[in-house]
Amino acid sequence: MSIRTIVNLPGDGIGKVVLDETLRVLEAVDFEANYIEGDIGWEYWKMEGNPLPQRTIDLLAKHKIALFGAITSKPKDEAAEALNPNLRDKGFIYSSPIVGLRQHFNLDICIRPCKTYLGNPLNFIRRGAKGEIEEPAVDVVIFRQNTEGLYSGVEWSNPSQQVHDAFMTNTRFAKNFGSTPKEEISISTRIFTRKATERILRAAFNHARNFGYKSVTLCEKPNVIRETSGMMYKMAMLLQKNDFPEIELWNTNIDAQMMWLTKNPENYGVIVAGNLFGDIISDGFAGLIGGLGFACSAQMSQEGIAVFEPTHGSAPKYADFDVSIVNPIAMIESACMMLDYIDEKDKAARIRKAVAEVIAEGKVRTYDMMKMSGRPDVIKNGAASSQEMVDAIIDKL
Ligand code: NAI
Ligand code: MG
Repeated sequence: MSIRTIVNLPGDGIGKVVLDETLRVLEAVDFEANYIEGDIGWEYWKMEGNPLPQRTIDLLAKHKIALFGAITSKPKDEAAEALNPNLRDKGFIYSSPIVGLRQHFNLDICIRPCKTYLGNPLNFIRRGAKGEIEEPAVDVVIFRQNTEGLYSGVEWSNPSQQVHDAFMTNTRFAKNFGSTPKEEISISTRIFTRKATERILRAAFNHARNFGYKSVTLCEKPNVIRETSGMMYKMAMLLQKNDFPEIELWNTNIDAQMMWLTKNPENYGVIVAGNLFGDIISDGFAGLIGGLGFACSAQMSQEGIAVFEPTHGSAPKYADFDVSIVNPIAMIESACMMLDYIDEKDKAARIRKAVAEVIAEGKVRTYDMMKMSGRPDVIKNGAASSQEMVDAIIDKL
């Protein structure tokens, strides 16, 4: 078998740390790959006026699979100030390279698993009927439509007359907003297409089938948002009936789901949602299993481009510590998702088992797991460094 090529996109700040540490784990599990590093992030914005250079896009187009750390993103004004003086006033405008990647490659499927590790002191706990403490084992995988819906950027403030006229053809708009001056109106649209909706639904059902989940929960609001959520709900019912009869389809509303999140999170398996609700629900579940140090994700396209990344950012505050204190597990878990994706499931399982053993033992914990605030002195106070955490995981391997 030929050796794979993986594009490494360390990015900025702690993205570099967690990716480097993760490569050590991949090596320890004898995963063989050629790694090529791609340029992305704030440094390239400052130097070149582009945080996502074309050469990086070309690399990913060629090799298809990337491990991505995290990048630093800043508001437009700050970005303009940070730009290399030679490039100022030459028309360079900052835009997030994450959004850039997502749009360029149409990474429409976002997957965010949230699984409880036994012994993680950050696990969500609740009281049972007799006042006893319960620690539900969460094992949820969220499938979020990643390119459409409320985040697609089709929006206006003070819309043009033509846009306003078009909206006025909608009777509800005319009745409720028709008398408001258009200068006082902002509109953000929520567009779902059948194609992308079908893809995210199918991906969710396939995942349930392949990984033994008994249910797929559609988490939307079809009783109120009738057109978009309503379409997704109808399509989910049809897909379940025709192609996935062995998997149960549950339907929850996003608001109620946020309540059930803490009441019975262990009951859910695969959850599928549009862009905004998927974003909300995945952060909600991530909070139950330890938060940013544990939250991993994948984004993938129909053309087979796949990017695996922790959901946390570059945490610039911690980037320059002499000894890195951040939790590398979210990035390591993201690499496990990559291994699953390229059919190296045994290696992924070995890594997850090693991580589980380290957490269950409880001897090696990064500062977040000890509920400390992140300062250089956490090491002195007993927290493990990023490197020590990875050493412990490698020991178990
Ligand atoms: P952040 O995720 O970088 O950090 C927020 C806080 O979470 C940190 O201060 C730290 O307390 C904690 N944290 C994050 N990762 C951790 C880890 N691995 N272990 C332990 N604790 C961890 O989000 P923030 O501070 O809002 O943004 C910082 C920069 O990152 C910004 O420039 C932002 O635009 C960017 N960002 C990038 C993302 C990406 O690359 N995917 C996602 C989110 C933010
Ligand atoms: Mg989010």
